This record gives sequence, C-alpha cells and structure tokens, in this order.
Amino acid sequence: MKYLISGGKKLEGQVSIAGAKNSILPILAASLLSKGICSIHNLPQLRDVEMMGNVLKYLGASFIRKTNSSVDIDSSGVSAISVTVDLMRMLRASNLVMGPLLSRFGEVRVPFPGGCDIGSRPMDLHLKAFEKMGAQITDRHGFIYAKALYLSGADIHLDFPSVGATENIMMAGTLAKGTTIIRNAAREPEIVDLQNFLNGMGARIKGAGTDTIRIDGVPELRGSEHSVIPDRIEAGTYLLAGAISGGKITLTDVIPEHLEPVIAKLREMGAVIYSDSNKLHLVKSTLLKPVDIKTLPYPGFPTDMQSQMMALLATVPGSSLVIETIFENRYKHVSELRRMGANIKIEGRAAIIKGVENLSGAVVTATDLRAGAALIIAGLSAQGETLVENSQFIQRGYDKIEIKLRQIGAHIQLVK
Ligand code: UD1
Repeated sequence: MKYLISGGKKLEGQVSIAGAKNSILPILAASLLSKGICSIHNLPQLRDVEMMGNVLKYLGASFIRKTNSSVDIDSSGVSAISVTVDLMRMLRASNLVMGPLLSRFGEVRVPFPGGCDIGSRPMDLHLKAFEKMGAQITDRHGFIYAKALYLSGADIHLDFPSVGATENIMMAGTLAKGTTIIRNAAREPEIVDLQNFLNGMGARIKGAGTDTIRIDGVPELRGSEHSVIPDRIEAGTYLLAGAISGGKITLTDVIPEHLEPVIAKLREMGAVIYSDSNKLHLVKSTLLKPVDIKTLPYPGFPTDMQSQMMALLATVPGSSLVIETIFENRYKHVSELRRMGANIKIEGRAAIIKGVENLSGAVVTATDLRAGAALIIAGLSAQGETLVENSQFIQRGYDKIEIKLRQIGAHIQLVK
C-alpha cells in the first residue's frame, strides 16, 4: 500500500495522540517477568505492537485484547526462552525480552537483531551488562545465548546512554539477587514509564529519568495494571505537519513537557506554541526561520524527529544545519526529499539544508518508519501529488495516520 497526498492544504483542528510505541514495547516485554495478569491500557494500534504480541504468544504467554486500546497478558505459562530469526527480523525490539527471560529463567537465546535499517545497531552494551550480572554469553551460529544460574546485582556504567540497554538492565535487575546500579543511564520518558510499570508489579526501582538508576532485586513480581504514556514522537510529527502547512492545530492527550526539545526548536524558528494541561496548541507557524539541530539523548533533540524536522527545514528560506549523532545511517530520507526538490547536502554526520520556496510532488519511497513520516510531511506542503511507497514502515509507528491527518484537513489516502 501507498499514501497518496495532494499537497498545499492548510491543516486546522484537533488530533488526539496515542500511547507511546517506545513505551509499550518494553512494557510488553516486562510483562514476561510476572506470573500474574498484567492489564495494559492506552495501547496504540500499531504493527510493532502486534509483532511484540506475537513474540509474547510465541514464548507461551496469552495476549488477549479487551478493547482496541487494552490488553491482558498472562505470562504464567511461559517456558520458552528462545526467539526465532523471523520474529527478530520483523521487530528489532524483540531483543527486549532478553532481560526479562534471563532474569526469570536464567537463560535466553535471541538472533542478532533486525528491524528498521538505520545503521548498525549493536547490542554490546546490553551483553556486557548481563555478563557483569553473572551471565555467560556465547555466540552460537548467529544467535546470542545467555545463561546464568542466577543474576546478581552489579554496578554498571554504560559507555553511552542506550535506551534499549537501560531498559534491558532494569528488567534483568528486578529479579536479580542484590542491587543493580545503572550509571550514565538513558533518561527518556519511556524509561520512567517502564519504572512505573515494574514498580506496579512489585519491583523496587528508583531514579529513572536521571542518569543513575537503582534496582533492588525482589524474589518475584505480581500482575499489575498500567496506562502507557502518550507518544511524544507521534505528537511531534503532527506538530511539524501542522507547521509545514502554515496551519493551527491542537494536540490532545499529550504530556507537553516530553516535547520540550521539539517545541524549543519550533519556537526558535518563530512558531507560536502554548500548552494547557494535556494539550498543545500550535497557533502560528508562518514565516519560519532556519535553525540548527543536533540530535542527542533525551532531553536533547530526538533522533526520531530528525527526518521530519528536515522535511520542514527544506521549506524554510535560508540555511539550516542538522547533525545526527545517535545513528550513523539515518539520512536515507534525503535522496527522497531531493526528488521532491529539496536542496540538502550531506557531509558525514551533517546535513546542510537550503530551504526552497516549494517542494514538488513526486513518487518517493519510505525506507524506515521516521523517514516515511518525513515524506508524508513533505508531501503535505508539496505542489501536486506525492505518492509515498512502503506504507508498512509508517504503520509500524503511526496509528491511522491518514485518518488523523484527514480530520485536520489534509488530502491523504491509502491506495494500492
Ligand atoms: C530506541 C528507540 C528508537 C530511538 C532510539 C534512540 C525503542 C523501541 N526504540 O532504540 O526509536 O531511535 O532509542 O533514541 O525504544 N548502541 C550501541 N551498543 C548497544 C546499544 C546501542 O552501540 O549495545 C548504539 C546504537 O547503535 C545507536 C545508539 O547506541 O547508535 C542508540 O541506541 P539505543 O539508545 O540503544 O536505541 P534503541 O534502544 O535501539
């Protein structure tokens, strides 16, 4: 399927934001730690969530949807400790089952990861930490096999504040003997959400949201109930869609604070944005100025918003600079934006963008989730029709994007 967009419509109205993809994936993995029932609410309807559900079912858990946005997971029957190559290929975040399974069963086997192709994404930080907690790691024919009689608490200093490594270590530490400390931990809001979910299950974790997290191991975890935080990347994407169209939009069901790094840049560009409780209002987005951006771990500018921001900057007169520091191969949208008339030059990790008056509609291909979102944003402002191929990448992380955009006046449809 493809998205067909007829550009040039000013967006106006209200969009409600779904639960965060990057919260729900580790939370679903964490449910493997408990023998009780975990009820999760504000579940986004995404392909990646379906995939993680398939991983849990494959391992022996029951995954029963109560409503479109709630699921009950019962992991009491889980006994498998191995993930298949196919599941891992479809969802890189399948590697998040490592911490829970190793902690609960003392054993786990996963293939080397696949997923969105945005540079080599090693797992060395996860594995070094598991080793420090007493696991033996072996590489067996393309599979990582980790085994431990039991995990022991350890003092772990991450070389880089990796989101996935922080989450995997937190989950591994919950049932370990003793205390685990993670230093230079990732500080993303999704880490705080995971801490809240785990503590609801009876874990003893403190410090998420800061760079030092302390996990006091407990003998077992119970079931719990949890509502996932709103998706700050989905929210940021709609904010930029509104901005590129020169429109006025309101986002509902957001935590404005989580969007500060993106809002700060939009304000620097001249946009007027204000928040009230769980709403964000973009009230002016015309006559924007160029800006420089460097992606960084939270609370820096998110790498997951880099491509969408570049689409906006491609239409802002003057010269902007983007530096991607998190992933080495995250400029695949650039050649597609160029097909639409964007003037972007890449030099190593830097992209120099000279804003053009108008982008033009073209046939373009989404190469990964956020690159695809950038092409939709570009298509919304382009003259004429844009066809974005590979809609399946976009559906990994955006719930009904064409419907939500149509509600605020965009001309976009999903076609064969
Ligand atoms: C998570 C997000 C993803 C986001 C990324 C960075 C989920 C499901 N995905 O991915 O949307 O783009 O955070 O905000 O939450 N690295 C290593 N060794 C490791 C682990 C990571 O070198 O063991 C490197 C990676 O190659 C990458 C950087 O660290 O260059 C960031 O990776 P990480 O923070 O781990 O991202 P993910 O958890 O995979």
